Amino acid sequence: MDIKTILVIGAGTMGRQIATSCALGGFTTILQDISGSALDEARADLEGWTARRVAKGKLQAEIADAALARLSQSTELGACAAQADLVIEAAVERLDIKRSIFAELGKNAPAHAILVTNSSTLASSHVAEASGRASQVCNMHFFNPALVMKCVEIVRNEQTSDETIQSVMAVARALGKEPVLVNKEIPGFIANRMMGAIQREALNLASLGVASIKDIDTTARTALGHPMGPFELMDLVGLDVTDFIAQATYSETGEDVDQPHPMVTQKVAEGKLGRKSGEGFYEYRG
Ligand code: 3HC
Repeated sequence: MDIKTILVIGAGTMGRQIATSCALGGFTTILQDISGSALDEARADLEGWTARRVAKGKLQAEIADAALARLSQSTELGACAAQADLVIEAAVERLDIKRSIFAELGKNAPAHAILVTNSSTLASSHVAEASGRASQVCNMHFFNPALVMKCVEIVRNEQTSDETIQSVMAVARALGKEPVLVNKEIPGFIANRMMGAIQREALNLASLGVASIKDIDTTARTALGHPMGPFELMDLVGLDVTDFIAQATYSETGEDVDQPHPMVTQKVAEGKLGRKSGEGFYEYRG
């Protein structure tokens, strides 16, 4: 399918970077959010990001300007949906909200449009029926920071058509990503399951007093070649997000091993959410 216009719903950490990635990939892109101030904040963030890359000599000024010109913003979901060939939903991780978004998309998006969710915790089968076009729905899961990370997990539900998968894979490649296909809806898909296992072990080692958080992170980087240690990564992703993923996984599997870890839950209760709040397992003052 010929995809020209992409609508990204949600101007949060993920949505704004996914939208920029789409604009840089040559697609006419609309970033939609119910909050005008969130859209303005996202725009300022993205202009800062592209300006820094231009200053570093990693992005040509004309390419950055053309991408920003291709990226518009709006608070009107229905009107934007009517223009989209592909919709990437990156709204809040709440099923009721996602269902109502997919119902609205089903009514307003052109009949050929593909509707995907960036959710890492809600499989697309939970929203597919609401859209009225289940064969054109799947998960398209990006990783944080979405402008940098190459992987995109494309997760099919039982009704997703092969054509939909091929089109979404082609878009991911056009964004410079390396899509992987997940054939079954399983909590955590591939990456978050592996990341969860590492985080669980790291949290257990720290809570047993086997080593400090800093030394566990250093070990992950220097012995295993990971770009970040597990605690640094949880701070990047957000401890609220980490805790939410664990809760969602545990509610689906019911397995003790998937229960949210008390060290993370405690930090969230204290408002220590990682980089975004200035403190998580580490401090990020200034
Ligand atoms: N947003 C956009 N770009 C960013 C960024 C951010 N938040 N953080 C770093 N970058 C860019 C920098 O601008 C730089 O770009 P350049 O090379 O073109 O100049 C590049 O990334 C490298 O940054 P740095 O040199 O500052 O630092 P690092 O070399 O340490 O890289 C990192 C930073 C890319 C974040 C790297 O540490 C990394 O890959 N960490 C692991 C990230 C990861 O595992 N993400 C997956 C999380 S799980 C997830 O998202 C799933 C979800 O469901 C929870």
